[in-house]
Amino acid sequence: MPWWFFRRRGGSALSTGTSWRLGDVALPRLQGRRRYLQEQPYLLPKDLGEVNRLDFQHYMFRAALRGNYLAPIEQPRRILDVGCGTGRWAIELAQQFPQAEVIGVDVEQAKSTSRTPSNYRFVRGDVLQGLPFEENTFDFVHQRLLLLAIPLAAWPGVVQELARVTAPGGWVELLETSISPNDFVPCGPAMQQLLSWMGQLAALRGLDAEGVVMRSLERYLTEAGLVNIQSYPLEGPMGDWGGRLGSLVALDFKEGAKAVSGPIAARFGRSEQEVLAVIEQASQEWNALQTCGRSKVVYGQKPFTG
Ligand SMILES: C[S@@+](CC[C@H](N)C(=O)[O-])C[C@H]1O[C@@H](n2cnc3c(N)ncnc32)[C@H](O)[C@@H]1O
Repeated sequence: MPWWFFRRRGGSALSTGTSWRLGDVALPRLQGRRRYLQEQPYLLPKDLGEVNRLDFQHYMFRAALRGNYLAPIEQPRRILDVGCGTGRWAIELAQQFPQAEVIGVDVEQAKSTSRTPSNYRFVRGDVLQGLPFEENTFDFVHQRLLLLAIPLAAWPGVVQELARVTAPGGWVELLETSISPNDFVPCGPAMQQLLSWMGQLAALRGLDAEGVVMRSLERYLTEAGLVNIQSYPLEGPMGDWGGRLGSLVALDFKEGAKAVSGPIAARFGRSEQEVLAVIEQASQEWNALQTCGRSKVVYGQKPFTG
């Protein structure tokens, strides 16, 4: 049996510790031209528009970090990307480490036209149900931007799951952001309104709207038994005032907000045009106020066993 063979850990879901039921807050599968997952807490669409945004966002973070990761990995043999989206990050890692086996896991495979390297493969999996891999399998486990996919109460268990599949001496790296108004500085009135809508929509499904996940990443890694934890706060300018990176960050956030404009309109009794107008006003505020948005990269190492 190959080492990556699908294996559920007794089929047990990680506890989310919340009382909401997805059926109560599920988005319609199709809303306007956007398509959403109904079986998951995940708030963002799964469609071609989102594929394009995620690829664009990937290049933005790669530019901001001047690379695809910060952990001091050397010659990893097995690499895992959890919630891999379009697979762009994992494919680039497969190209960078041609001797490594690289797996991208996600609840749904994104349609891609690009050819993938032979050392990359996609595996369907739901991190909220436990990862379909043996323990101590990967030398590097990466997870980026699952804030709007993993309920707040499930985060400690998810990070423990990442640590479980990491080999002794291997690294876990997380990159997360926040949709709390406190993490957009300064935050103008239109942006406050937009984040309030997004936050309420997120909170309905148990997702973190207050920046708790971003502030707790180091603790999650520590509680999962990892050591040598390092943390790198990122502060990205939003808007043309911040040069090329600022333009990219603003476009990414704007497209991300538009991706939930339909669900916001439906939930809060607004027309989609009204919501889009607030998004436009918010983007003008970023330039006028020189707003910066916060994200963070945190990594830690699984101890070698005696
Ligand atoms: C915002 S995207 C980030 C994608 C990728 N990590 C990146 O940085 O480009 C979140 C991804 O998580 C996936 N996802 C949502 N819920 C998930 C779950 N329970 N298990 C695994 N993947 C999930 C979504 O399908 C989506 O591809």
